[in-house]
Amino acid sequence: MNTVTQVPLSELASSARSAFVLDQWYVAAFAWELQDKPMARTLLNQSVVLFRTPDGAVGALEDRCCHRSLPLSCGTVEGGGLRCGYHGMLYAPGGSCIEIPGQERIPAKARVKSYVVAEKNHIVWIWMPKEEGAAPSKPAPDYAWHDDARYRFGGGVYHYDAPYQLIHDNLLDLSHVGYVHQKTIGGNPRVHMTAGMEVGGEGDTVRIVRLLPDTLPPPAYTAVWPFKGGIDRWQEIEFEPNHIRIWAGATDKDSEPLDDPQRGGLHLRGFHGLTPETETTSHYFWTMSANSHPEMPDNLDKVLQQIRSTFDEDRVVIEAQYANMRRFGEAASWVDIHVDAGGIRARRIIERLRKQGE
Ligand code: FES
Ligand SMILES: [Fe+2]
Repeated sequence: MNTVTQVPLSELASSARSAFVLDQWYVAAFAWELQDKPMARTLLNQSVVLFRTPDGAVGALEDRCCHRSLPLSCGTVEGGGLRCGYHGMLYAPGGSCIEIPGQERIPAKARVKSYVVAEKNHIVWIWMPKEEGAAPSKPAPDYAWHDDARYRFGGGVYHYDAPYQLIHDNLLDLSHVGYVHQKTIGGNPRVHMTAGMEVGGEGDTVRIVRLLPDTLPPPAYTAVWPFKGGIDRWQEIEFEPNHIRIWAGATDKDSEPLDDPQRGGLHLRGFHGLTPETETTSHYFWTMSANSHPEMPDNLDKVLQQIRSTFDEDRVVIEAQYANMRRFGEAASWVDIHVDAGGIRARRIIERLRKQGE
């Protein structure tokens, strides 16, 4: 069933870009990014330093020493926390200064803003509260596929010169696959544009299911799985305000019921954490978890190679799109077509949550 919303995307696009959804978990980093050095990252316009203490705990502080404003990311991690690289003030992961070299008394004001973080399934989430210091109102999202023995995964982090909602649009509209990703996961563009698409979802979620029976395997699929000929493909997309999960895959044509979650074949589970850096730039944290065929047990490297090429293709398109939006001005109107239903639904959710935070 194709669903076309009546709300013009152009209206939602301009208003939603002005602020972010707060009281929300966002991906701050992947666990493997935090080694023995502090890392600076701007998240929702806030300069944050992330670090891992020797006992393995992750801390997140405002990236500014309260003494003379050196970024704390220029400092060093020590047993008790993070030491400023200028005059050596030591901060605990909770933000309070616990040592001033050469001075016994520590002023009560000697502290920096701290953030609540949660490390789960190799993902470091950060709670971005509406009221400074407010505790999270819900647990950080689960992403159990990273710890599922049936899959192996890898991933990376992109920086985008584009607002994060343009990346939502892209991931919620996989009709672009046939045109943008001809060389990788594409296949026949017409099959992608005419595939049946169910758009639903409850609360703050969007769910899109696309089934593409009887099509040809794209280059990225034949490189990692021994398909015999024609294939049946599926794409299941689940949107939440802070990340998108895409479960895609294929079986040999007519070998299994395509709508059965237990179907065999190649399974690719994509994690896409979209975190605004500023109103106009974004962090895109991605992983791909893949199963493997007995004849191709070491297919993960190839999967990741293909996926990286695919995501490079997306970035070129989205950054070119946004550059052109700035060139022509935000008032330049957009025409909505049938493929936009999921993206528009997600923009409505973001807009509603953003307004709740005002
Ligand atoms: S600027 Fe950090 S201790 Fe002086
Ligand atoms: Fe894409």
